[in-house]
Amino acid sequence: MIRVAVVGATGYTGGELLRILLAHPEARVDHVTSESRPGQKLGEIHPFLRARLDLTLESFNAPRIARQCDVAFFALPHGVGSKNIADFVTLGKKAIDLSADFRLKNVKTYEAWYKVKHASPELLKKAVYGLPELYRKDIPGTPLIANPGCYATTTILALTPLVRRKWLVPGSIIVDAKSGVSGAGKKVDPMYLYCEATENFQAYAVAKHRHVPEIEQVLGDQTGRATTLTFVPHLVPMTRGILVTAYGTLKKKMTAAAVRQAFEEDYGGERFIRLLPEGRWPQTKDTAGTNYVDINVTIDERNRRVVVLAALDNLVKGASGQAVQNMNLLFGLPEAMGIK
Ligand SMILES: NC(=O)c1ccc[n+]([C@@H]2O[C@H](COP(=O)([O-])OP(=O)(O)OC[C@H]3O[C@@H](n4cnc5c(N)ncnc54)[C@H](OP(=O)(O)O)[C@@H]3O)[C@@H](O)[C@H]2O)c1
Repeated sequence: MIRVAVVGATGYTGGELLRILLAHPEARVDHVTSESRPGQKLGEIHPFLRARLDLTLESFNAPRIARQCDVAFFALPHGVGSKNIADFVTLGKKAIDLSADFRLKNVKTYEAWYKVKHASPELLKKAVYGLPELYRKDIPGTPLIANPGCYATTTILALTPLVRRKWLVPGSIIVDAKSGVSGAGKKVDPMYLYCEATENFQAYAVAKHRHVPEIEQVLGDQTGRATTLTFVPHLVPMTRGILVTAYGTLKKKMTAAAVRQAFEEDYGGERFIRLLPEGRWPQTKDTAGTNYVDINVTIDERNRRVVVLAALDNLVKGASGQAVQNMNLLFGLPEAMGIK
């Protein structure tokens, strides 16, 4: 049995982790932390856990948790947990960080986009980007997983078969992304208040969202050269879900069947990627509550443009489900255990 701590258990991804871990046959949650509500019963914060997980929230303490746990999930805002993660990993334990702190390999890029000084840059080299579909073989040996962002997971998986084959004109990629409100976490910000978000559809962080360098880093890694894209996120008045529409100009004329074949080759064996039948387009509802990414692709022949759509649940494959997928790989368990 893997003994688990959830650090930042009061937030949305923390709650989703607990929902998933409760049903995991090889994991047991022993510690849940909160800095604002230590001493409070977990069931008071997440009523769905009442009578199911009788734990009390505690402040984070690396030595205490490391004594009793094999792995800790850090479900904290960026810039908050990296020092604690370093302390925990130094004690010989595994950490899975859901924030952006260890995703970018270049500390200057991180500090420029996130506007905070990195507290543990020495760990960046050891961290593995936890997107199993691309980095599966690197995961078991690492002490630290940088769990990918939700927009990043969707966009990278939508574009990888195309950039890997160098089929797109450099600089031609445009991504139009939409997210439900839980993607922003529980924080209070007027943009996410009910009256502002409901019956509304708005763009934000146009061409400067913080997932851009993460997406470009991984796509660059896949294609072997610097890759740039234009990324425009939107807020949709729904609780969960991400839908990405990605466009790129093909270097040469291709058939939709040939492009589709590339996706089949790359993703045919992937447990959590569903390439939809021709003509059926991904939608958020079909992935809600699951660890699946639904993808489909076609060609706008008149413009030599490829169009890929991808949908997932931001709290599951976009965060906590993927984090448990990574835990399974870290501990040599079947990858889909507890998230099937
Ligand atoms: N929401 C998503 O769809 C999603 C998807 C992928 C990745 N992520 C990433 O996952 C992380 C958690 O996201 P979330 O949506 O779960 O956020 P959230 O709902 O806002 O929860 C954040 C948690 O962090 C704790 N926290 C907040 N400020 C803190 C501080 N200054 N010091 C220490 N603890 C603090 C809070 O607990 P206490 O105040 O009780 O300590 C809370 O439990 C973020 O880095 C986010 O970017 C989120």
